[in-house]
Amino acid sequence: METIEFEHPVARSILTRLRALNTSSDEFNRLTYRLGFMLAVEATRNMGTLPLPVETPMEETLGEKCIEYPVLLPVMRAGLGLLAPFQELLPESPVAFIAMRRDEMTGEAELLYDSVQNLRGRDIMILDPMLATAGTALSVIDYVLEKGAKKIILISIVAAPEGIYKLRKYSNLTFITVSIDRELDKNWFILPGLGDFGDRLYRGE
Ligand code: PRP
Ligand code: URA
Repeated sequence: METIEFEHPVARSILTRLRALNTSSDEFNRLTYRLGFMLAVEATRNMGTLPLPVETPMEETLGEKCIEYPVLLPVMRAGLGLLAPFQELLPESPVAFIAMRRDEMTGEAELLYDSVQNLRGRDIMILDPMLATAGTALSVIDYVLEKGAKKIILISIVAAPEGIYKLRKYSNLTFITVSIDRELDKNWFILPGLGDFGDRLYRGE
């Protein structure tokens, strides 16, 4: 597993506003979009391209075109906040959905719904802004591996060291996050964290 802590002053400044207690849902949504777009740029850094000749107004030159668009898999609910910015950059990518619920007493994740088809030979980007115990991520990664996924990129915004440690067993996984935070509290919430991402995005209680 490769871990990338996305180092960028604008990303750090957006994350600070996401963390702030008094940031409204409306602003939280807009900030998530902006940061999601930056993460999409980072996540596609090594995408394959083919040479493509192009006629400019001045002369012919050799350009490139992207190939092998990854499948986007937002983990509902919170991962839905990252879908629009990833689609903005990758409109050709197919989208599959998976819904997971984490039991906040045990930290165990339960699969509620999925629309994942055969992924044989496909690269996949799993979108989930929070990695806490990694219970959710482990279930989703095992699930897409069973469906044949080739290369997996897991995109998060805030991650706990305890969760990252559990991801180390996957050789074909790249994990991208904006911040590796300090630790989990006794209810499996990330400290300092930003609270419940899904609730803040969707005005939940
Ligand atoms: C949150 C978050 C992750 C998960 C991370 O989802 O979006 O999916 O917790 O925690 P873990 O690493 O301990 O599994 P939650 O189950 O709260 O659902 P939500 O997205 O609907 O808020
Ligand atoms: N899920 C969240 O939304 N926040 C946390 O701190 C942990 C899991």
